[in-house]
Amino acid sequence: MLFNMWYVAADLSDITDKPKHVKVLGKKLVLFKDKEGNIACLSDVCVHRGASLSAGRVVDGCVECPYHGWRFDRHGAAVKIPAQVEGAKIPRRARVDSYPVVVKYDWVWVFMGDLPAEERPPLPDFPEYNDPNWRLIRGEYTWNADYARVIENGLDFSHAPFVHPSFGDPAHAVIEDFDVESHEWGAGATVTYLPPMYKGMWKMIRRERTPVRANPSFHMSGGLMCLKVHITKTWSQIIFDVNTPIDENTTHTRWIHARNFMRFGWADRDAKRRVQAIFVQDAAVVEKIQPQLLPVDLSEELSLKSDGLQMAYRRMRRNFIKKGWSIDIDHFKDSEDLKRARVIPSPERNKEENKDIEWVLPTVPVQVITPRKAHLHAAGDEIGLH
Ligand code: FES
Ligand SMILES: [Fe+2]
Repeated sequence: MLFNMWYVAADLSDITDKPKHVKVLGKKLVLFKDKEGNIACLSDVCVHRGASLSAGRVVDGCVECPYHGWRFDRHGAAVKIPAQVEGAKIPRRARVDSYPVVVKYDWVWVFMGDLPAEERPPLPDFPEYNDPNWRLIRGEYTWNADYARVIENGLDFSHAPFVHPSFGDPAHAVIEDFDVESHEWGAGATVTYLPPMYKGMWKMIRRERTPVRANPSFHMSGGLMCLKVHITKTWSQIIFDVNTPIDENTTHTRWIHARNFMRFGWADRDAKRRVQAIFVQDAAVVEKIQPQLLPVDLSEELSLKSDGLQMAYRRMRRNFIKKGWSIDIDHFKDSEDLKRARVIPSPERNKEENKDIEWVLPTVPVQVITPRKAHLHAAGDEIGLH
């Protein structure tokens, strides 16, 4: 699981005047509003005796630990320790990690990592979000699967005829060669495919069986998978979904579906049912994939040209792992929860004024890539590994 990334931790509507517990990257976090109404995100493990801050309450814009009442401000520093005699100094080590928060698309994005602001990736664009020509609906889905497997599934066009009968047709499963366009934080492609005739009210929008153009893409921020489908020359739909790694085998997907046709409220239920059906169909396959985690070694599964966009994702992910931005999940097995709490490092640790602090909780161990077993050359339709 990659850190030094933005992930969606909650819906904006989840944030009330009570602390909100969430889990991202296998780590407990607490979200709350400070005095100005800005959302703060702290590590949810109190550095005193390990209690969950989220089980406490919000007082004066701080979160108060339910065990001994220590209060932490939005930067994670303790500002009150009730058991201290008057005039006693609050130790500087009495602090928890605090992660940057941004609200966008009515989601609460948290930056899980310690990069300074100027080095953090941007959030993905969604120009249709505020465009009145598009009707939006939302939903969510929880998978018992690795988030990288889930993202890849969304980029994979050759599975559609076999997994989604409403979307693809096994008799027309060929994926014509396509180019992948990459940028610093993601990539996209244009794919043409031949869906079956639509059923129900959707018959009205595509009367003839003609090929359809689609733009699948990904962005590392949020584990975003976006699919734009141009059903006709003017009518399109978009699925914009962010995939949050709750832990190594649980993914929480939040999706927004946008359509620029049949923009009436009465068509929402049908659109929602269609999107939900797609997730259920995917999960039946994705939750049983072995190994559960996406391989890091690109030669461990056989990839063809039609898997080009997934390979762009795998390469980008591998580069971030090489930078030391991936948690070595082996530590979850024996130490997390039982022996030792470890946290994702936050930008607070690198601030000049905090440099001399020895933080109470250690940071997560980082995954190290072992060299590839063999150098393989692409042959025929196989995709090259470089
Ligand atoms: S455990 Fe949080 S104040 Fe003691
Ligand atoms: Fe799918």
